[in-house]
Amino acid sequence: MTLIGSAPGKVILFGEHAVVYGQPAIAVPVHSRRAVARARPAPPGAGLRIVAANLAQTICLSDDHPLALILRLTLDALDADPPDLTLVLSSTIPIAGGLGSGAAVSAALARALSAALGAPLPDERLNTLVYEVEKVHHGTPSGIDNTVVVYGQPVYFVRGQAPQRFTIGAPFTLAIADTGIAGPTRVAVGDVRRLHGRAPERWDRVFAEIGAVVEAARAHIAAGETGALGPLMNRNHALLQTLTVSCPALDALVDAARAAGAPGAKLSGGGRGGNMIALAEGTDHGALEAALRRAGAVRVLFTTVEQIGPER
Ligand code: MEV
Repeated sequence: MTLIGSAPGKVILFGEHAVVYGQPAIAVPVHSRRAVARARPAPPGAGLRIVAANLAQTICLSDDHPLALILRLTLDALDADPPDLTLVLSSTIPIAGGLGSGAAVSAALARALSAALGAPLPDERLNTLVYEVEKVHHGTPSGIDNTVVVYGQPVYFVRGQAPQRFTIGAPFTLAIADTGIAGPTRVAVGDVRRLHGRAPERWDRVFAEIGAVVEAARAHIAAGETGALGPLMNRNHALLQTLTVSCPALDALVDAARAAGAPGAKLSGGGRGGNMIALAEGTDHGALEAALRRAGAVRVLFTTVEQIGPER
């Protein structure tokens, strides 16, 4: 029998970077992009290993690799010995694009392994394990990426607090455009930390402004007032620019989206590359995609943000 574990990608709608400093942020899953792990019994003595289809790589349990780490953490959490099992991993989430690929592959692997051991991990426990792996990827992550990916729900997140689900009063569609530049989240987060260290009061004010944008966005999303989100996205992007985490490629995509009629656009995630999101409400999707591609996007996808049932 093959047991399957999976987890979606994600985008941060509002509040990245400031969330590391205690401000709220909002993130939503992208269910059309997923990491999937299939657990297949292996011959006795074969041990536990991952075959990563995308990377054309086989990873063993003892390897110094973040994917091996999530297996060790899962076995520890379940107090289980390694089974003879092959986990075949595949993912349609672009790597290093700020779409939560690292967290999603960890969550999918832990789900498949724990299911194969007959003890599926509850989301809350799984979230703490994936967070441990995120620390290896990103240094000092806030925990928002693993939380949205593990729960597979829109989340309102404050570091150190239990994630809150929030109401989506009316569905809305986003364009997600990839610069094709690997977004070095660890570097961007480290640079913001240095900036903050040099003038904490100045940057705390910027973080608080981002926090206010997040609160306003949450209220408008809950009320189904989608039209109000565009200006808030533009404001959030301007504040992220002052934090030095945008880059010419992201700014070009943001400008192109606005010129093509998107009511708002901003970088999403760590920045310095990775992805941009634009509100696609009231726009011609074909024309918006063409404009983004002309401005350098290597990939454009559309996703609808809506209220959904629990992730499994
Ligand atoms: C990265 O997706 C989001 C950041 O806010 C970092 C974090 O929250 O850990 C940039």
